[in-house]
Amino acid sequence: MRILAIETSCDETAVALLEGDGELSDVRLTVLGNMLYSQAEKHAAYGGVYPALAKREHQGNLAPLATEALRQAGALKEGGIASLPPNVLLKIREEEFRNDIQKFLETYAKPDIDYIAVTHGPGLEPALWTGINFAEALGAAWGIPILGINHMEGHIVSALLERPRTGTYALKDTKFPLLALLISGGHTELVLMKEWFAYERVGMTKDDALGEAFDKVARLLGLPYPGGPHIEEAAERSRARGGTEMTFPSPMLHDPSCDFSFSGLKTAVLYKLRSMEKLSEQDKEEIAQAFEDAAVTAIVAKTERALRATGAQTLAVGGGVAANGTIRKALKDMVAKLFPETTVLFPESDMAGDNAIMIGAAAHLRIASGKKTEKELEALGSLVLE
Ligand code: KG4
Ligand code: ZN
Repeated sequence: MRILAIETSCDETAVALLEGDGELSDVRLTVLGNMLYSQAEKHAAYGGVYPALAKREHQGNLAPLATEALRQAGALKEGGIASLPPNVLLKIREEEFRNDIQKFLETYAKPDIDYIAVTHGPGLEPALWTGINFAEALGAAWGIPILGINHMEGHIVSALLERPRTGTYALKDTKFPLLALLISGGHTELVLMKEWFAYERVGMTKDDALGEAFDKVARLLGLPYPGGPHIEEAAERSRARGGTEMTFPSPMLHDPSCDFSFSGLKTAVLYKLRSMEKLSEQDKEEIAQAFEDAAVTAIVAKTERALRATGAQTLAVGGGVAANGTIRKALKDMVAKLFPETTVLFPESDMAGDNAIMIGAAAHLRIASGKKTEKELEALGSLVLE
């Protein structure tokens, strides 16, 4: 089964073509083509993702990236549809985007694919719509069904994929109940999966997402967007010098829920900065470390609480912040010490951030588990896992 996967929820435009084989117990996923374009540099000037710019960028990138992903897969055939039926481009209001799609469909023939999978939420709605519009136009022109995929489900699945040397992904040993810790730029939540794709929310942030807190603190320290990797590097430099005396209170530590809160921590950093006269590079690195330490303590404490409450056999960590080495190590150490029966899974480093492979993989797993959804698609900015 071949799936063309499309991701446009935030500031990455991504298209991949996946071949999936095997039953759920023995899934194999081969990436035939994979393209990812990060707009991060373009948004850096705004200090965060600027939705109107993201939308325009996705619209310009989708057809070229799809062309290239299909080319990589050897699935690009000349000879498109001579004249498109009117319903295909009906929803595309922007002329340039419409022309790009029309040209794409008139140039290339229907590839050998069975499904199109597209992220339909959560994320920035104008950005999500570009992917949905593109997917629907291709699906209508080629007569291929479309599956809407939850972006956070993609992040969970990214932690479950193992890439042996053959280049074909297999599923890691995934035991249920599975607790997912999702830490990205837009979300921070703990979600329980009792069986494939049956979700229960265990905890979530009451304000900022963890990635957002990293980005905001980076901005306060004059580090570029996206700030997560820069904070991590700065914190490492401080630790390499022997660490810092500075501390920030870890948020919500004594609260009995599994919820998070990061806006107070960000404000504590702001007050600290205001109280300091001149800031040396070393000061900045120490602040980065103290911030990261406080955030890690909170993440570890709430994950521990959730593991205890749910008895989860697997902890799967997903989302952009899952790339952070300090967080990975702290979670691994905590689980090894307190829950030796539980397996901790992280995405491979190139799969932590947004990408289309995780969307195609989630679609394949949904099909393989008999839980595919083919509803009318709509961009849902606040879509939850349910
Ligand atoms: O999942 P993602 O690529 O996009 C969203 O769905 O939001 O996550 C992006 C977030 C950004 O906030 C970025 O600063 C953060 O992930 N991030 C990191 C690291 N790498 C990316 N945060 C901390 N440490 C990192 N190494
Ligand atoms: Zn994401």
